[in-house]
Amino acid sequence: MSSTTYIPRIHRALVAPGPGSIALKPIPVPPIADDQVLVRVAAVALNPSDYKLLDQSTTLGAVSGSDFAGTVVRVSSSVSHRVKVGDRICGFVFGANPGCPENGAWGQYEAATLDLCMPIPPEMDFATAASLAMGTATAGLAFRSLGLKWDGLAVDSAAQKSASDSSANEDTGKFVLVYGGATATGTLLLQFLRMAGYAPLTTCSAANFDMVIGRGALHAFDYNAPTCVDDIRTYTGERLAYVLDCIGSIDTMTLCCSAIGDQGGRYSALELYPRLLTIRRRDVVHDWILGWTLFGAEVQLAGAYHRPPMPEDWAFGKQWAEMVSQLIADGRLQAHPLEIVSGHLSMVIPSLDRLREGENERKKVVVQVQA
Ligand SMILES: NC(=O)c1ccc[n+]([C@@H]2O[C@H](COP(=O)([O-])OP(=O)(O)OC[C@H]3O[C@@H](n4cnc5c(N)ncnc54)[C@H](OP(=O)(O)O)[C@@H]3O)[C@@H](O)[C@H]2O)c1
Repeated sequence: MSSTTYIPRIHRALVAPGPGSIALKPIPVPPIADDQVLVRVAAVALNPSDYKLLDQSTTLGAVSGSDFAGTVVRVSSSVSHRVKVGDRICGFVFGANPGCPENGAWGQYEAATLDLCMPIPPEMDFATAASLAMGTATAGLAFRSLGLKWDGLAVDSAAQKSASDSSANEDTGKFVLVYGGATATGTLLLQFLRMAGYAPLTTCSAANFDMVIGRGALHAFDYNAPTCVDDIRTYTGERLAYVLDCIGSIDTMTLCCSAIGDQGGRYSALELYPRLLTIRRRDVVHDWILGWTLFGAEVQLAGAYHRPPMPEDWAFGKQWAEMVSQLIADGRLQAHPLEIVSGHLSMVIPSLDRLREGENERKKVVVQVQA
C-alpha cells in the first residue's frame, strides 16, 4: 500500500440503526482489498434501490449508498500501476450489503473496486460524475439481458456520430422500447442504444418528450394514453422485439409484453415481476436485472434477490466500465438532469425521504459534500 495523504482511522458514515432509517455514526474507515482503492467521497447520488434495501432488507449497522465520486487517497499495490493518490474517480459500490456491511458510498471514505470505477475528466464536476455509474452499469446489464450487441459503442467519435444519425438508426429497424425512458436509467440507456445503432423508442409522461428525444429516443409514447400499446405496434409495424422495462410493475409488464410484435421477443425489467404473468406471452423470453451481480460475488440477499457468484457478469462489468469511461472522456454521454444538494453527508437523510415519497421532481438527487 502507498499513501501520501492523511487518512483517519475513524470516519463518519450513514449506517442503519433500524429498518428504513439511517444515521450518521463514527465507524472505522473500511479496509481495501487487492483490487480496490480508498476514496475520499466528494459527492453521492441517490437511487431508489438505496431506500428499497434499507426498507425491505435492512442490514443493521451497514453503511448505505451506492453511487459516488471522489478522490483516491489510498491504492492497493496490485492496482498501483493504473491509478494514483489524488486521481478523481466515480463508481458504485454495493451499499447496505449484508456481505460487506462496513462499506457503502455514504461515508466520508469508502473502498471502491477499481475495475468498476471510471476516471472523471477534468471538465466534469463531482456532482455530475456521481450520477453516472449505477445508471450506466444497469444500462450495460440491459444490453446483456436483452442480448443486444454493443461492439458499436467502442468505436471512435466520427463513427459514433454517423451511428447516431437518425436515418441510419431508423433504417436498421432494430427497435428497442425503453419503458420509462425518463428514469435516470432510461435516459442513459437511450443514449447507449442510439450510439450502438439501435432504434430506441420510449414511453414517458408527455412533459418529458423533449428530454428523451434529446437523449436519443426516435419516438416517445405517453404511457398514460389508452392507445399506447396500439400506437407502439403501429409505429413499429408490429416488429418490436426488445423491451427494457425501467419500472417493472404488473401494469408496465402487461403493456410492454402487449407491445412486442407477434413474432415474440425479449422482455427485461429492472424489478422482480410476478412469474405468473410470463404465461401470457410464451413467445417472449423474460428476465430481470440485479446490478449487484456485477461485483462477481454472491449477493447475500434473501429469496429471489439472492444470487450465486456470477463471474461472467463481473467480466462483462469490467469491459463495460472501460467502454463507458471512454465515452465519458470523449464527452459523448449526457448525465440525467440533476438536483444538487450541497452541504453535509447528513443531507442524504432528508433527500432520501423525498426520493422515497416521489418528491424528487424528475431529477436525480446528488448530495455534494465537497467542491
Ligand atoms: N435492478 C437493478 O439493478 C436496478 C438498477 C437501477 C434501478 N433499478 C430500479 O429501476 C427503477 C427506476 O430507477 P431510476 O433511478 O432509473 O428511476 P427514477 O429516475 O427514480 O425514475 C423516476 C421516473 O420514473 C417514471 N415513472 C414512475 N412511475 C412510472 C410508471 N408507472 N410508468 C412509467 N414511468 C414511470 C417517471 O417518469 P415520467 O416523469 O415520464 O412519468 C419519473 O420521472 C427503480 O424501481 C429502481 O429501483 C433497478
